Amino acid sequence: MSQANVCKFIDVCASDDVWIGEMLVFDVGQREVLVMNVQGEFHAYDNVCPHQSVPLAEGSFEDGVLTCRAHQWTFDARSGCSINPSAERLTKYPIRIENNRVLLGDSPLDT
Ligand code: FES
Repeated sequence: MSQANVCKFIDVCASDDVWIGEMLVFDVGQREVLVMNVQGEFHAYDNVCPHQSVPLAEGSFEDGVLTCRAHQWTFDARSGCSINPSAERLTKYPIRIENNRVLLGDSPLDT
């Protein structure tokens, strides 16, 4: 059983609050979670760059690519996989949309 099946989901906002191409940060337990709307698909990641822990929300998000402001590492916002450099991965959180609300899992997915 994956962690996603046992975590609690927390209502953080309306789905209309995160427009296509936007990202917002929410407190979930002890963590900040970054919610991104990629062409109507919602994805959620720990708001911490795997390089040197700079908040990812301080970076930019364009054409489905998240760029960390500190050293310009780039990530595919759909998969969480790094583009440059390769072989890195963001910590992904479970996310669901129900009744136009964004629900975030309170613990990361096993990846
Ligand atoms: S801290 Fe994000 S690229 Fe260095």
